[in-house]
Amino acid sequence: MEEARLFEMLYRYGVVPVIVVESPDLAIPLADALIAGGLPVAEITFRTAAAAEVIATLRKERPEMIVGAGTILTLEHLRLAKECGAQFGVSPGLNPEIVEEARRLNLPFIPGILTPSEIERALGLGAKVLKFFPAEESGGPAMIQALAGPYRHTGVKFMPTGGINLHNLESYLKLDIVLMVGGTWLARKETIAAQEWETIQANCREARAIVAQIRGDK
Ligand code: 3PG
Repeated sequence: MEEARLFEMLYRYGVVPVIVVESPDLAIPLADALIAGGLPVAEITFRTAAAAEVIATLRKERPEMIVGAGTILTLEHLRLAKECGAQFGVSPGLNPEIVEEARRLNLPFIPGILTPSEIERALGLGAKVLKFFPAEESGGPAMIQALAGPYRHTGVKFMPTGGINLHNLESYLKLDIVLMVGGTWLARKETIAAQEWETIQANCREARAIVAQIRGDK
């Protein structure tokens, strides 16, 4: 999928569930809960050994979903994510080597930033969407708004992540510089492990309702 189209779809969903899944066997029921909740999108983090297999399974079995790879800390994981069919990559920090390799692999990549210098470095590397992490702990919506001031004209957009939930989601989505938010609250590791699919479905539905209310249901 073209980068512009991908970001357009992520904007439309407004929220990206950040997933920590321990077993590939849980990939399909998890995906079905997200889809049923109206959020056919997931960032599968490379914090577990199951990540690559989960991404490959979802790409094959649930092609209607957008599947990204998160917590990309090494070139090895980046290449593996691409091989498994990940449609985008995310990292908590800004590693120029990884951003450059993602570009070479033609994989849309969202590096993490927290300061003006990091934003400038990321823009210089060609990144267009940046993960603002950890969002709540670093000053939340007011901080992103202030931080984005000198860079707004570049067209840069942000994916705040860290400490976001149903109660503060709205305050982030209201910012025009926010493309989408990320978070584990929709499908927590423990909830996935306990296979509480209805809880995940309900969380997604509630989040989608807030997105629709703020951005209109497109
Ligand atoms: C991430 O990897 O993006 C964060 O762990 C997500 O933060 P959260 O758990 O507070 O949503």
